[in-house]
Amino acid sequence: AAAEKGGFDTFMEKEINEQPHAVADTLLGRTDADGHLVLDELLLPEEELRAVDKIVIVACGTASYAGMVAKYAIERWTRIPVEVELAHEFRYRDPVVDERTLVVSISQSGETMDTLMAVRHANELGAKSLSICNTHGSTIPRESDAVLYTHAGPEIAVASTKAFLAQITASYVLGLYLAQLRGEPAEQIAEVMRELQQVPEKIQAVLDGMERVKEIAYFMSDTRSVLFLGRHVGYPVAMEGALKLKELAYIHAEGFAAGELKHGPIALIEPGQPVFIVVPSPDSEHGLHGKVVSNIQEIRARGARTLVIAEEGDEAVVPFADVVIRVPATPPLLAPLLTTVPLQVFALQLSTAKGLDVDQPRNLAKSVTVE
Ligand code: G6P
Repeated sequence: AAAEKGGFDTFMEKEINEQPHAVADTLLGRTDADGHLVLDELLLPEEELRAVDKIVIVACGTASYAGMVAKYAIERWTRIPVEVELAHEFRYRDPVVDERTLVVSISQSGETMDTLMAVRHANELGAKSLSICNTHGSTIPRESDAVLYTHAGPEIAVASTKAFLAQITASYVLGLYLAQLRGEPAEQIAEVMRELQQVPEKIQAVLDGMERVKEIAYFMSDTRSVLFLGRHVGYPVAMEGALKLKELAYIHAEGFAAGELKHGPIALIEPGQPVFIVVPSPDSEHGLHGKVVSNIQEIRARGARTLVIAEEGDEAVVPFADVVIRVPATPPLLAPLLTTVPLQVFALQLSTAKGLDVDQPRNLAKSVTVE
């Protein structure tokens, strides 16, 4: 069993450490020598893809947070409106979907019943269905018009880690491909692809610097509640950080959009409350970085213990941070591929410190094949 875990104590730790490969392998072979995206495997006629005027992403759990991240990038690159919906909610309302809608399902296993039912519903409504999936030949890709596989390799731990980063990567590849079909300048697409190609080594750098996060988690093992704040693409990352902590350490955890703080969550801040803040890149548009730094200042003034995930060189956060966790600089849209990693390591470590089974958390299944 130790060999199966590649020398790590748990599958989850192994899979967290495989993330540079999961991202690199998901990018592999998707561009030609000129940097054009080539997705022959998609099997949907280009005219149909060009005619798409709306995208609805359906998924459950961690995959739904990958969908939330994807929305920011796909809308930005394609100008196609993107909705993200939990598969079980999409299925039982009366969604406005037609033959020009592309319904993108995201699923590691390809067997999640809620997601499968949403795909079937989309097919019945005449939409085009595309599956982003990690498991070859599974049910959801088989029942979809097209599939874009993530190449994360088998994920054994119940809590999803490397599949999540691979899902974000694949959805970015899809977004860039749709942008290319719609005539976006090749140079701009190639530029994003070049940045994406650099992400695996940056993930490795994050992984190599996790000692401090492990220590913090160890000392926080009797914490009863942890909050997570993020904005823009950092918002779904905050949600994912909270989900990981609930799943693995059975600690009450909530993720919020940082802009929502003053509309409610700030009432939860009391002395000693730990809060992770996923800080946007200082290069973010619309002054988002400064707005989040103000949020950190506000909660710190009320006694919160601030655990700040920020880019290398971002000194503005330092005066308000109890702990700064650094990630390498990257274009703002790609940041989730880095900022998620410390939150995964934190949840893993806290779970371990509590003596829990990280690979098999209570009450959860790897793949939920019932509604
Ligand atoms: C279960 C797992 C989660 C996963 C979700 C969706 O709830 O415990 O880790 O995110 O299913 O799974 P899928 O295979 O569709 O990505």
